Amino acid sequence: MKTLSSKVVAITGAASGMGRSLAIECARRGADLALVDIDVKGVEDTATKARATRLGSRVEVQQLDVADRDAIYAWAATVEAKLGGADVLVNNAGVSLSASVETMTDEDFRWLFDINFWGVVNGTRAFLPQLKKKPEAHVVNLSSVFGIIGVPTQSAYCAAKFAVRGFTESLRQELASTSVHVSCVHPGGIKTDIVKRGRHYEDATGQKTSTEVVAKSFEQGARTTADEAANVILRGILSNNPRILIGADAVAIDVMARLAPRRYDAIVTRAAKLGARRTK
Ligand SMILES: NC(=O)c1ccc[n+]([C@@H]2O[C@H](COP(=O)([O-])OP(=O)(O)OC[C@H]3O[C@@H](n4cnc5c(N)ncnc54)[C@H](O)[C@@H]3O)[C@@H](O)[C@H]2O)c1
Repeated sequence: MKTLSSKVVAITGAASGMGRSLAIECARRGADLALVDIDVKGVEDTATKARATRLGSRVEVQQLDVADRDAIYAWAATVEAKLGGADVLVNNAGVSLSASVETMTDEDFRWLFDINFWGVVNGTRAFLPQLKKKPEAHVVNLSSVFGIIGVPTQSAYCAAKFAVRGFTESLRQELASTSVHVSCVHPGGIKTDIVKRGRHYEDATGQKTSTEVVAKSFEQGARTTADEAANVILRGILSNNPRILIGADAVAIDVMARLAPRRYDAIVTRAAKLGARRTK
């Protein structure tokens, strides 16, 4: 895709962080928008900012839970009826959770998986028919560096993000002979509210923790802003990059996982424990 001008971009999780930055940058570049989030006030605020960025931009906005399959299919139908269908779909909505395999509740595990994995599957399958009708289209699925390596207390998050990566790489091969391009995004630490909005019970040393403590540690470690991340994603769409790494930390983790696929455990465990101790 050479330009976003006059394209329709559908984004989930557009109330905050990378979803919000993407929406505003897409509007600035001349796109019309279909924005959803479970946080209705936040997504309406994003829509107001996007409309102010470019007068005349069409911005459809609604509250939606990406875990609700029927609601996503209804949203896709609305986008087709009101905006003529999406050219770009960004499956961005996500949540965070810190808990060990042993103590994590099934409810928390399912909550995360329904959003971070099934939300991506629901969005992709609901929009695929309309994306295939376009001369050129793009699906962007948000995985993570935690879709490249495993990390203690992140088993649910890593499992969902590894699953997004597998799903997206298979999808890309299935669509290779069509007009629909597919990108899997692996951000490193991005300065957003994802941890503040999450559920955090245990740190990497196995000690009880709180969302406040994990958020503090995350804020110290995250290096890239949401605006910078959004621009990297948009460059990836415009250059049809199938695999978008965001940040020097993501590049370093990707190299580590390739060079030391069996030995990275010790490095990651030590780094996670150091991080947990520093914020105590
Ligand atoms: N921030 C990071 O360091 C980082 C790193 C790697 C991957 N990611 C991924 O990037 C994506 C965007 O995250 P972010 O950092 O911008 O976080 P964020 O919390 O700022 O934004 C996520 C948005 O998703 C929305 N959301 C949550 N549950 C939802 C649901 N059930 N239905 C619809 N919307 C829902 C939230 O309300 C929020 O607006 C996520 O998939 C996340 O896992 C983030």
